Order: sequence, then structure tokens, then C-alpha cells
Amino acid sequence: MNHQVSCCESQNCAVEARGLCKTYPNGTRALKNVNLRICGSEFIVILGPSGAGKSTLLRCMNRLVEPTGGSIHFLNENITHVSGRNIRKIRARVGMIFQQFNLVRRLSVLENVLAGRLAHCHGLLWKGLSLFKIFPRSEREIALECLRKVHIEELAFQRADTLSGGQQQRVAIARTLAQEPELILADEPVASLDPASAEIVMQTLQDIHEAQKIPVIVNLHQIELGRRYGKRIIGMKAGEICFDGSAIDLDNQTLRCIYGKELDSGLGRIKRPPVAPFLQHHPVPGVALATVE
Ligand SMILES: Nc1ncnc2c1ncn2[C@@H]1O[C@H](COP(=O)(O)OP(=O)(O)OP(=O)(O)O)[C@@H](O)[C@H]1O
Ligand SMILES: [Mg+2]
Repeated sequence: MNHQVSCCESQNCAVEARGLCKTYPNGTRALKNVNLRICGSEFIVILGPSGAGKSTLLRCMNRLVEPTGGSIHFLNENITHVSGRNIRKIRARVGMIFQQFNLVRRLSVLENVLAGRLAHCHGLLWKGLSLFKIFPRSEREIALECLRKVHIEELAFQRADTLSGGQQQRVAIARTLAQEPELILADEPVASLDPASAEIVMQTLQDIHEAQKIPVIVNLHQIELGRRYGKRIIGMKAGEICFDGSAIDLDNQTLRCIYGKELDSGLGRIKRPPVAPFLQHHPVPGVALATVE
């Protein structure tokens, strides 16, 4: 089953995997011949059971992981085996958001966001000043603007570890924005959050995607969130892509194919409750929440 939504050949390709393989040193084949083209205007959700290879695929895209076969291209540049300085350049252009936020807990929110600017500010003087938490006014302004975009500018001077999980994830998104990325990768960004915070974080990513036209790829375990936010959904299973299509095509038969038969008991219990209170204040058009009891 492969409902291919291929992006137009003429469109600028943000990231492309060609016959991508990754076998870890212990012999685990995490990716087996993955082919994927992702274009500028896409908001992609990757679904799949634990161990399917979702994180490995994302990590190949910013070269936290080196592929063992095939190739990976970022904005038409082959980055499969780049190393050293070139790898740092790639990572500066690709924003990565993690489940555990990866903030420096004892630093303020603003300082965490300013860390996203480091890749743009060259020179030993700037780096030396940053060690003493001295940042040029222009850089502070950029960081504050990023906090404004995720609606938490009032928390700028609070220590990162005093924030809720949802707020910390928005700081992580602001830090990524400060990087001025050309691609945003988010590996289970809402896995540690309650449903209301998860919704706000997904909405924030969608807003940024729409306002700045940055392609966003999100790994998720929450099928309903994936359905609502993913313009294109990729289903992975055992290191392979087994579905590539829109949310409408993601029917129960397809989900069973991605997740296996154990999904059946969960599907039977999916219901549609009234819209959650926080969504009444931040309505998302055409959206009703679904939860599993
Ligand atoms: N560093 C590593 N060394 C060896 N095996 C690894 C390593 N990282 C991942 N794997 C294995 O590769 C396979 C794919 O892992 P990956 O983390 O990409 O899956 P995933 O779909 O992200 O899973 P989850 O939903 O649990 O995060 C798994 O079998 C995993 O155990
Ligand atoms: Mg993972």
C-alpha cells in the first residue's frame, strides 16, 4: 500500500532520501532503502511503531547519523558523507526539536534562545562574550522576536527549569527559529506533554510553517494529532516507508498495516469528545479532538 504524494520535480526539494539505508554497528537495520522527496511547502508527520526507524530517518537528515547506504540531499546538496566543518554548517541550517527540549536548565529563557544565534555569529570575540552572557543588542532583539512568535516573551528572564513542559518546548522552538533554519525537524516534540500543551506546540509549529514557509517534519506517536496537522503523512514500519499520502487516505486498514493487528483494540476505543476548552479560545478550523479512552 503506497499512496505516493510525490512533490513536483520542478519544485525546490528541501530534503531528499535516495535508497537511504542505515545499519547500526550492532547489525540493526534501522532504514532499508528509503526514498522520499520533501518540498518547501510541506508539513509532514511521520507515524509508525516504536523501532520503525523514524528518529534514524530524521537524524540522517541533519547528519546526526551517517547513512550506510544510499544518499541524503539537503537543498540539492549531497550531505551523505560530509564531515567536520561542513557537518556543522548543515546543522546550523536545520533546526532540530527534541522530546526532552534540550534546554540549558540553569540559563534564562532568553539565553537559551540566544544559543540558537551562535551558528550565525562568527568570531572569537562574539563567542568569548557569550561565555560571559554578554550579547549585542541586535542579537537580543532577534531572540526576543522569536519568543514573541511563540507567545512567551513575558518569560524571557525566567530560568528555563522553572517553566512547564509546554513552555519549555516553545522555548526550544524559539531557539530553533533564532537559528533561521531552512528546515525544521521535530522528533516526538509533544511526547512528554499533556494534551492541551501538545496542541499548542503543534499549532505553534504549524503557524511558523505557514508564516515562514519552512518545511516541517514531525515524528509523532499520536495518530489523531498527525491526522489533523500533517498535510502529508508518512507511515514507517521496520525501516521502510509503507504509506505516503494525505490524512484522508489514512484509514483504519492503512493504520493496521503500519502498526499491526495490536492497533485494533485501540481503534475500537477511539471516540470524538466535545472540543477541549483551550481550543474554544484558540479554535482550529474544522478540527475536533479525538482521544483513546
Ligand atoms: N545507536 C544505535 N545503535 C544501535 N541500534 C540503534 C541505535 N539507534 C537506534 N537503533 C535501533 O534502530 C531501530 C530504529 O530505531 P529508531 O530510534 O530510529 O526508531 P523510532 O521509530 O524512532 O522508535 P521510537 O518511536 O521508539 O522512538 C531500532 O531497532 C533501534 O533499536
Ligand atoms: Mg524515535
